[in-house]
Amino acid sequence: MSKDLHGKTVLITGANTGIGRATAYDLALRGAEIVMACRSEEKTLPVIEAIKNGTGNAKIFFEALDLSSLASVRETATRYLASGRPIHVLINNAGLAGSKGQTKEGFELAFGVNHLGHFLWTNLLLDRIKESGDARIINVASMAHYKAKVIDWNALTKPSKSKTGLPEYEVSKLANVLHAKALAKRLEGTGITTYSLHPGVVASDVWRSVPAPIRWVIKKFMISAEDGAATTLHCVSHANIAGETGLYYDKCMKKKPSKLALDETLAEQLWQRSEAWTN
Ligand SMILES: NC(=O)c1ccc[n+]([C@@H]2O[C@H](COP(=O)([O-])OP(=O)(O)OC[C@H]3O[C@@H](n4cnc5c(N)ncnc54)[C@H](OP(=O)(O)O)[C@@H]3O)[C@@H](O)[C@H]2O)c1
Repeated sequence: MSKDLHGKTVLITGANTGIGRATAYDLALRGAEIVMACRSEEKTLPVIEAIKNGTGNAKIFFEALDLSSLASVRETATRYLASGRPIHVLINNAGLAGSKGQTKEGFELAFGVNHLGHFLWTNLLLDRIKESGDARIINVASMAHYKAKVIDWNALTKPSKSKTGLPEYEVSKLANVLHAKALAKRLEGTGITTYSLHPGVVASDVWRSVPAPIRWVIKKFMISAEDGAATTLHCVSHANIAGETGLYYDKCMKKKPSKLALDETLAEQLWQRSEAWTN
């Protein structure tokens, strides 16, 4: 896929702020049609206007999507498929960290939003993606996945247990890496490639649950959302990685993920369970 994205449609989740917004802006500059699937119309429409004004690209659209509800994921996917729009690039970017609770269907919040919602979203859109031939599917994961040492399957169907919500976040990001890997295996021979990545430690709204004074200090040491979009953008269009699939990237380079993230059996177990939970 070339850097010029005229004629290409990119569907991206959580693009109203942070890394997703910076990613959408760059893709708009390169001429892509962009569909921003976000949970708040009120927050997203002004961002769409700003991207249109800043880039001169008028083909930026909103779709309502709440990843904490599998019903919402189904509704939005149905609407999208009915619209007839193609998908050349799917970017599973939305995510939360440090929030606790349960999704509408009772899954642990970080796992449900960051992984399970995106798992169902991707599966429902897969036939449309296949129509685009050399499409790419990108999961914005995190280096936090290295910290996850086990997936406790029982914990995934209960409210978040930890005080900080961060151990649950680490598992959800491990799931993002395993999902890209298991999906790559299923897409062998289709021309569709998958990628997972760490965007860098970015001064975005993802730190919203950290108390204000600490948040202000730590954000000073982080990279900008624009720099944080670089590895996603690399995975969207870099020609050199067109033949690579199911791998993990950091700083626009391939990187070995954690031992668990390379575990084929675990990837399959996660796939089977995710499939059962979303049926
Ligand atoms: N920032 C970092 O240092 C860092 C590091 C590693 C990985 N990441 C990953 O990068 C991705 C983007 O994060 P960011 O830093 O740009 O964070 P952000 O500024 O907080 O943006 C997160 C996006 O996800 C959306 N989102 C949250 N819950 C959702 C739900 N239930 N349904 C639909 N959308 C939902 C948010 O929507 P609202 O605005 O409506 O809440 C927002 O658009 C995430 O997957 C995150 O895990 C970030």
